[in-house]
Amino acid sequence: MQYPVVGFLYGLVVVLILLMGTWQISQGNLTGASFGSYVIAALMLIDPVNHFIHNYSEFKQGEASVDRIVELLDIKPAVRELANAIDLPPVTGRVELRNVTFGYDATEPVLRNLDLVALPGEKIALVGASGAGKSTLVNLLPRFYDPQTGQVLIDNVDIATVTLRSLRRQIGIVPQETTLFSGTIAQNIAFGQKNFDLATVEEAARIANAHGFISQFSQGYFTWMGERGVNLSGGQRQRVAIARAVLLDPRILILDEATSALDAESEALVQEALERLMADRTVFIIAHRLATVRRADRILVIEKGQIIESGTHSELLAQKSRYAQFYAQQFAVESRA
Ligand SMILES: Nc1ncnc2c1ncn2[C@@H]1O[C@H](COP(=O)(O)OP(=O)(O)O)[C@@H](O)[C@H]1O
Ligand SMILES: [Mg+2]
Repeated sequence: MQYPVVGFLYGLVVVLILLMGTWQISQGNLTGASFGSYVIAALMLIDPVNHFIHNYSEFKQGEASVDRIVELLDIKPAVRELANAIDLPPVTGRVELRNVTFGYDATEPVLRNLDLVALPGEKIALVGASGAGKSTLVNLLPRFYDPQTGQVLIDNVDIATVTLRSLRRQIGIVPQETTLFSGTIAQNIAFGQKNFDLATVEEAARIANAHGFISQFSQGYFTWMGERGVNLSGGQRQRVAIARAVLLDPRILILDEATSALDAESEALVQEALERLMADRTVFIIAHRLATVRRADRILVIEKGQIIESGTHSELLAQKSRYAQFYAQQFAVESRA
């Protein structure tokens, strides 16, 4: 924006100097030669001044960026490990929320006074409108956020008192979309583990229905992923995420709309792999498929950050309340198909 202005002023100044010079020479106050040297000197100044203006604007932009970085550094991580945090011992997978209230902004709670107990091996489906707080609820388990009030306990240990590593090591997550990092596909599956055994990775990939597509790459498990590497389809990425979870072998598993971004064909393969993964674990499933929800041991209907109904599919349908409505709206089309 400053260049047109500078250009205009520059033109104006040249015209003014020439007019003044001509006038002064005609008055006899100035010789043509000294006016000539003056003009040349003035022209020589233009370049440095231009440079100065240009650099100054870059400097200003830089200053703004520095401010932004300082701002980011200033944000304290929401979750802190206690100085005397202990390692969470291997758990059986009992999960409890005790009067949990949480909001991303403390003044606007997203979850309100939640109480919930999941028994080891129980499959719990969370159902509710978009924005109801389903993802927020499950994100409290690996302590991505801390509740403002209340506690989250795993095997009766308050997770705020344990090391993040020992906690997250015991919770597997298959999100809606999986990100891969730059590295081989074997490294991507062994995510977070420094020393891994290729045979174990391959076994996990088989369970996850991923071995087939991986072995079709000419470099197999050494195929490079991520930036400047092979691109995987959505369904293939999800199977990598499942293989990661199989390898991690956690007692607690979170499936947050793990199949909702897939086409029907990939979904069948992913679904089958998920079924194997879910066995013998405590599972929180946020799903859009009726079949998955219906088979859960318990369905929780979440509305405005509260559990408004809880029960099995048939129990809730019999109540003819929110779940039944939800079922009619969201799932009936699917069940007729
Ligand atoms: N990272 C975040 N920062 C601020 N608000 C968020 C964040 N994630 C979700 N929310 C808000 O919290 C509420 C619950 O969101 P979410 O738990 O994602 O719902 P669901 O998974 O049921 O669709 C929504 O109002 C959403 O806009
Ligand atoms: Mg969600």
